[in-house]
Amino acid sequence: MKITVLGAGYVGLTTAACMAEKAHKVICADIDRQKINGLKKNNIPFFEPGLDKLVKKHLQLKNLQFSNSLKTAIQNSDVIICCVWTPPKKNFKADIMAVINAAKDFGQSINSYKILIIKSTVPPGTNKICALAIQEEIKKRNIKVKFDIVSNPEFLRQGSAVRDTLKPDRIVAGINNKKSVAIIKGLYKSFQSKKRPIIFTTPESAEIIKYAANSYLAMKLSFINEIAGFCEIAGVNIKEIEKGLKFDKRIGLDYLHAGVGYGGGCLKKDINAMIHFGKEKKYNFKLLKVVDEINEKQKLHLFDRYKGLADKNVAVLGLSFKPDTDSVKEAASIAVVNKLIKLKAKIKVYDPAGLSAFLKAAGKHKNIMPCKKPADALRNADVLMILTAWPQFKKITPEFLKKHMKGRVILDGRNLLNQKAFKKAGFEYIGIG
Ligand SMILES: NC(=O)c1ccc[n+]([C@@H]2O[C@H](COP(=O)([O-])OP(=O)(O)OC[C@H]3O[C@@H](n4cnc5c(N)ncnc54)[C@H](O)[C@@H]3O)[C@@H](O)[C@H]2O)c1
Repeated sequence: MKITVLGAGYVGLTTAACMAEKAHKVICADIDRQKINGLKKNNIPFFEPGLDKLVKKHLQLKNLQFSNSLKTAIQNSDVIICCVWTPPKKNFKADIMAVINAAKDFGQSINSYKILIIKSTVPPGTNKICALAIQEEIKKRNIKVKFDIVSNPEFLRQGSAVRDTLKPDRIVAGINNKKSVAIIKGLYKSFQSKKRPIIFTTPESAEIIKYAANSYLAMKLSFINEIAGFCEIAGVNIKEIEKGLKFDKRIGLDYLHAGVGYGGGCLKKDINAMIHFGKEKKYNFKLLKVVDEINEKQKLHLFDRYKGLADKNVAVLGLSFKPDTDSVKEAASIAVVNKLIKLKAKIKVYDPAGLSAFLKAAGKHKNIMPCKKPADALRNADVLMILTAWPQFKKITPEFLKKHMKGRVILDGRNLLNQKAFKKAGFEYIGIG
């Protein structure tokens, strides 16, 4: 199929590359000129495992093109997939202006039957708002042209976006006509299987399924962090509780690790958009308010566990909100480093991918020193803080720390290290739970 993807961010670029991998002809269009010029030269503006190779391959094979001309891109495709951003407004209401603008572009450009697929995360009712915006644009042009619009939320995770897109757990398509069902089946033919079904719903249900999924994941994480707090007062190791819970099929394996809270561009944004949508309709979403409150508190939980951080030399390993991404959006590292600055600590920071994004987000400060290697961050440190579960941090040994650190305190915000081994080697080890 001939496809245009609108938006070349995490979702758009991954979708475009994966659609090309599945033998579709794809144009990825964005309003950001600099980004598109970079992409034409295969410069991926963020770190996502496997994406650079896929983009390079399909640029060379000419299955994938990049463009700033939304109109031409739309006119040259049958299927338009909208992956533009939906950031939170100041009051956390979802800002759907970019999605409406993309719909208007679609209405101003279409010259024959086309289908607009909305992948951006949007509140219920957005599909209808976009349909009206498109109709208005077509009316202004005084032409007769048919279109359909489908809500097809995205569930990929940063850090495993390519894998998640090529092998999704399920595909949700909110549709209200038969023609679109056939197109969606064709589009996703080689992505789906019996185990990875397409679930057809109404557009509004599809919109809510995305919010409900993110709410559930955030709830699971805040739940396990609350259990971790309970373990701390009971003198019990949370890892044993996690093990005992995760083999229960009703509970599930994922999103059940205690830590310094969740971050990223989606969970907080989406649960707050849901709370806000509820508030506008006089629905008090108590559970999600508590989930968010627990998470914000959790980011600084290590300061409750250990009181001796004032004026210390602190090595912070891990700045991105999770491993395998360079994104520091809503990451615990930002809150932790700000608090350390208030305590007049001297902070050396290291991350395998997120260092420059962190320095941009945190701003320059004389107490923050970026480091290129873990050993540089650890040199003369009194305290080590681990904030992201990068697999390479798991390999850190007591001998390595003794060689570089001055002090013997470990604050393990992801319960990554083998606490027994470090305690035995003379370290004061404090984890979560
Ligand atoms: N990042 C994730 O992990 C993830 C996962 C699932 C769903 N989502 C949702 O997908 C959507 C996109 O997220 P993202 O992380 O890719 O965002 P992003 O910020 O990485 O990228 C958004 C892109 O949209 C472009 N854009 C804005 N307005 C445009 C317009 N009118 N026409 C064309 N391009 C336009 C921007 O220039 C930018 O490149 C959001 O609604 C988000 O909530 C994100």
